Amino acid sequence: MKRKAAAFLLVPFIAALTASQPALLHAEDAPDSPQALRKAEMEFMKVSLGSIVAVTKGDVKPADPADFLTRRADALYGVARNIPTLFPEGSEGGKASADIWKDFDGFTAKADALAVAVADLRQAASTDDVAAVGDKLKAVGGACGACHKPYRE
Ligand code: HEC
Repeated sequence: MKRKAAAFLLVPFIAALTASQPALLHAEDAPDSPQALRKAEMEFMKVSLGSIVAVTKGDVKPADPADFLTRRADALYGVARNIPTLFPEGSEGGKASADIWKDFDGFTAKADALAVAVADLRQAASTDDVAAVGDKLKAVGGACGACHKPYRE
């Protein structure tokens, strides 16, 4: 009971703290900024890719590798398809090169190329051929790099 009352008293205090935060934070670090969202999505792709690598190397063995790998590939595909929306106009900053907005079609093409590579990997995963998935990883990693090189500073 006592604990509850104390927690309740903390609410306005915490609200006051968070309310003052946007002024302290750099706009692009704010949780609702496009920059924060795309960093989180990029990190998600890195982790998803990492778990696929771990399976293909035999570091982890899911009970149903085909199921595991196709679900990871689906998740990656969803983000890859969404990349252009993570870079709305006026969201310069972070390590995003200004060239993204000078040549948005070129940037979008890199995201499309990643989606194609991931779809290819998913196809291999669905046939339960872990070695084939390993072979497709190079193209996926290459597609990440093919965008980072021109568009990430
Ligand atoms: C179409 C372009 C594009 C593709 C494809 C792409 N990225 Fe990125 N990525 C970027 C850009 C631009 C940034 C810098 C974003 C920023 O700092 O605001 C970035 C940043 C990152 C970061 C750093 C995030 C952080 O915390 O600062 C990681 C990790 C990353 N990408 C992983 C990946 C992986 C893994 C793939 C492939 C599965 C991938 N990216 C594919 C454009 C791309």
